[in-house]
Amino acid sequence: MKAVLLEKPIKANEMKIVEVPKLKIRPGWVLIKVKGFGLNRAELILRNHEIAADYIQKPVVPGIECVGEIHDGGDSRFNKGDKVVALMGGMGRSFNGSYSEYALLPAHHVFKVETAMDWVELAAIPETFYTAYGSLFESLQLKGDDILLVHGATSALGLAAIQLAKTVGATVIGTSRKEERLDLLREVGCDHALVDDENLVAKIKDIYSKGITKILELVGAHTIAKTAQLLRIGGIVCVTGKLGGGQTNGLDLIRLLPNGTYLCGFYSNYPTQAVIDDIFRIIEQHNIKPVIGRVFDFEQIGEAHEVMENNQAQGKIVIRMSE
Ligand SMILES: NC(=O)c1ccc[n+]([C@@H]2O[C@H](COP(=O)([O-])OP(=O)(O)OC[C@H]3O[C@@H](n4cnc5c(N)ncnc54)[C@H](OP(=O)(O)O)[C@@H]3O)[C@@H](O)[C@H]2O)c1
Repeated sequence: MKAVLLEKPIKANEMKIVEVPKLKIRPGWVLIKVKGFGLNRAELILRNHEIAADYIQKPVVPGIECVGEIHDGGDSRFNKGDKVVALMGGMGRSFNGSYSEYALLPAHHVFKVETAMDWVELAAIPETFYTAYGSLFESLQLKGDDILLVHGATSALGLAAIQLAKTVGATVIGTSRKEERLDLLREVGCDHALVDDENLVAKIKDIYSKGITKILELVGAHTIAKTAQLLRIGGIVCVTGKLGGGQTNGLDLIRLLPNGTYLCGFYSNYPTQAVIDDIFRIIEQHNIKPVIGRVFDFEQIGEAHEVMENNQAQGKIVIRMSE
């Protein structure tokens, strides 16, 4: 079967699809025929340097999520042909992941889905919507009367978060560094789309003089020093992303947050069937269409990584496997 194998840091255009041995089922694991997968910045970081770390299996098939059909359910609850999504739990790091025609994955990180979505649309969902859902509803405890800032909103995760936040009626402010991307933010439901520049805090204070209640921080913890000033008492900031690098050295936690506000994070490593079911219920009930930036064939994996690296997608990058 065909797969991408990483052994050391390489450039996007050096990624190659190679022939690897067929996978054999083992207890507790299932074999998935991969139909598609979304790209993630975690895979960019892996390819650029993390692959050299001791805790990464080498060589490794990258890819922290996929969608597909059960090819062999082994001793699990799955049957051949079940439509599934899989994400995280060490995929593409501790064991081989999804950049492959077939993926052998632990059954507890594979989830059955019932949906009429095609494979490309479905591939845009698992990691991105699970992380958006968890950040908003578990960590930020988002409610309809909240005023939410999504910092780094044109990322695939930011766009999904805007869509989910609007389903509970929250007011959403989204940011991009580029003026020409603000229309996209309004199209997905942002009440206010703002350019992320040195006046961002002032612009938000002009609209909400008493401040806001929640922040989904995707640019990185280092920016909290600026954005957290916007929080009202009882407000929460959730650090989920590090688009700007995520350096936290020198942050003075005593003075960083206004008194009476809260800092938390979200890590997408612990999905459950109940949460996956709820995500698909919300998507169907609110007729949400994931924002897909670009779609590539598996053979174009290097080009797809280049697009991700250059921030050109404006939505989820999806890889479609041939039938
Ligand atoms: N905690 C978790 O478990 C978890 C799970 C998934 C993802 N993440 C993280 O969430 C973030 C978003 O992931 P994604 O895959 O959705 O990203 P993505 O779609 O690749 O994001 C691309 C966008 O990010 C913005 N961006 C890039 N560099 C930036 C910078 N230096 N400062 C501000 N904005 C920048 C750009 O928007 P503009 O040019 O429009 O400003 C760009 O269009 C990443 O940091 C990722 O690692 C975390």
